[in-house]
Amino acid sequence: MWPYPKIIAHRGGGALAPENTLAAMRCGLSHGFHAVEFDVMLSKDGIPVVMHDPDFGRTVAGSGRVFDFTAHELASVDAGSWFGAAFTGEPVPTYEQVHRFCSENRMWMNVEMKPAPGFARQTGRAVAELTRRLSAAEIASHGPGVNGRHALPLLSSFSFDALLEAKAVAPEIPRGYLVSAIPADWQDRLDELGAVALHTNQKNLSAKQAQVVKKAGYGLFCYTVNEPMRAREILLWGVDAFCTDRIDLIGPDFF
Ligand code: G3P
Ligand code: MG
Repeated sequence: MWPYPKIIAHRGGGALAPENTLAAMRCGLSHGFHAVEFDVMLSKDGIPVVMHDPDFGRTVAGSGRVFDFTAHELASVDAGSWFGAAFTGEPVPTYEQVHRFCSENRMWMNVEMKPAPGFARQTGRAVAELTRRLSAAEIASHGPGVNGRHALPLLSSFSFDALLEAKAVAPEIPRGYLVSAIPADWQDRLDELGAVALHTNQKNLSAKQAQVVKKAGYGLFCYTVNEPMRAREILLWGVDAFCTDRIDLIGPDFF
């Protein structure tokens, strides 16, 4: 039901590296993580790039929108120095680069599609098509492998339309529906998306809800769990997996 790892490094390296960069993926790996979550949106030229915010200002200095720059231009912006001088010049990577790094290092991927407003379908299509191409070997051997290490990436999104498009384009790539609080019609939504899992904010989850989702046969994933006591609690409720920023406190074999 949940053939993937249980503990996932949020944005690659949690709070220990500049989020959503190759340095973050290396950091997660160096802490023993073989599972990462990261965020993907489209560049001006329609290439999926790994970035959380649609605007510059937080992880990239200055002003501007990701969507107004090509992937080539984004490869020379500095998405590292906000975090620390040691990361100066760390670029905004493409999804393809991160996928290759993760595949080479046997890291399972939860790819969160974060479309810019108005680009949900386009983003779902581009990410699903690229995932299908980059994961061709895994599709051929139809994972999941041991502890999910050879498994296909799981595409998740708060955007229903992005997921619907991903389903239309590449139904064989699994999908997870992201919500900040579980809505009354959650099961209808998952069924329409053909989603394997519900992803939700741990802050809004109750033991009862966890029980209902698990009893219905879906995977249940929580974001973002940074306190070991809370992590233990929700795992005891039946939550299958969660992502964490505190990869220093909550290791890949945590329980
Ligand atoms: O995918 C789970 C989590 O990353 C969702 O929230 O804002 O951290 O991308 P955010
Ligand atoms: Mg995310």
